[in-house]
Amino acid sequence: MSVSMKYKTFNGNPVSVIRVQSEGVIPMKQHRSISYTDSVNEEEILVTKPVLPPFSEFLPMLETIWNNRQLTNAGPFHQQFEEALCSYLGVEHICLFANGTLALVTALQALRITGEVITTPYSFVATSHALLWNGIKPVFVDIDQHTLNLDPGKIEAAITPQTTAILPVHCYGHPCDVDALQTIADTYNLRLIYDAAHAFAVNNAHGSILNYGDLSVLSFHATKIFNTFEGGAIVCPDRKTKNRIDQLKNFGFVNETTVVAPGINGKMSEFNAALGLMQLKYIDSYIEKRRTIDQRYRQRLAAIQGITCLKGVGERTPNYSYFPILVEEAYSLSRDELYHQLKNRKIHPRRYFYPLIPEFSMYRGLPSARLDLLPVAMEASRKVLCLPIYPDLELDVIDRISACIADLS
Ligand SMILES: Cc1ncc(COP(=O)(O)O)c(C=O)c1O
Repeated sequence: MSVSMKYKTFNGNPVSVIRVQSEGVIPMKQHRSISYTDSVNEEEILVTKPVLPPFSEFLPMLETIWNNRQLTNAGPFHQQFEEALCSYLGVEHICLFANGTLALVTALQALRITGEVITTPYSFVATSHALLWNGIKPVFVDIDQHTLNLDPGKIEAAITPQTTAILPVHCYGHPCDVDALQTIADTYNLRLIYDAAHAFAVNNAHGSILNYGDLSVLSFHATKIFNTFEGGAIVCPDRKTKNRIDQLKNFGFVNETTVVAPGINGKMSEFNAALGLMQLKYIDSYIEKRRTIDQRYRQRLAAIQGITCLKGVGERTPNYSYFPILVEEAYSLSRDELYHQLKNRKIHPRRYFYPLIPEFSMYRGLPSARLDLLPVAMEASRKVLCLPIYPDLELDVIDRISACIADLS
């Protein structure tokens, strides 16, 4: 199959034409930055490929939507999906969203967060963008060298009278040090909101990692291990908070005539909710396939000098959402050289997260964005390469990718 995008003119205006040739799964947008100006063919190995349930199983759900004409605003599939998710994830309450970014923006609003929020520089840019959308000042604190998550040991020094909350990320689905973070939050009376976009279905010894902190935010974007095309959610501990969040994601409406806050339109549609219900049937098998892939990479890469496979700390059931390796100095190429060499061989890993958020122009001027204050994050940003991982990635392809990395060393 190939996808290509061409620019043509129509009535004198430039228009883009996307061509999709042949059947099959459309290669996914690689985390926002795939170039559709290049054609992509079957031999290209992308960093991820979205999983979908059998089309035939989804059709009756579509038919139901077509018949009952309830397309959004907490319809029947939305209701069912919320309940099914709570039970699958082992959490009390969930509010579904159109995407994870709107969920993050709303989570901050729901807890009335203002002033300064301590967050990680090593994440997808949506984490700190959600702060800017709320007029909050991000304060970047360096990460832990083992987990690449916010380092609790460095947080206290960054707390000021304006600090109101901490916004950590369970990066790559590897849990943060939730106990240490909670202790700091309790000591300084701060709110704790987790960006759990990578942490779907991750449990520690006590259950879901999503039950920590005040709120946890999920993303169901196409690149994530569990997707509803686009989608997201907030996990919250009580009915009162859920009601407030449900109002905020619906323009602030409490009833037909009362609006209590400048809420946003963050609602998930019936289409996405129906798809989510269907995806839940298969998620365990997707994670199991990822586990096999993760193991295979670890076996094949173990002997290559200068290549370290990142490991999570504290998860009892991981979700294998990414496969990050560190390209150390002992390897013969730099991370970027390896990245380009693999691309030349039609293998498309991703440099998550490069550049660091504080390097982007809208953050660069902040005092906490000084890169010399963030040495661990800087190093990770220059060393990490996320290798392709998705449920139908064949083991012989993993062997080929690993052999390329070995041959180039
Ligand atoms: C860590 C992190 N936070 C937030 C988001 C935003 O989620 P979404 O794409 O669903 O808006 C993403 C992913 O895209 C992410 O990786």
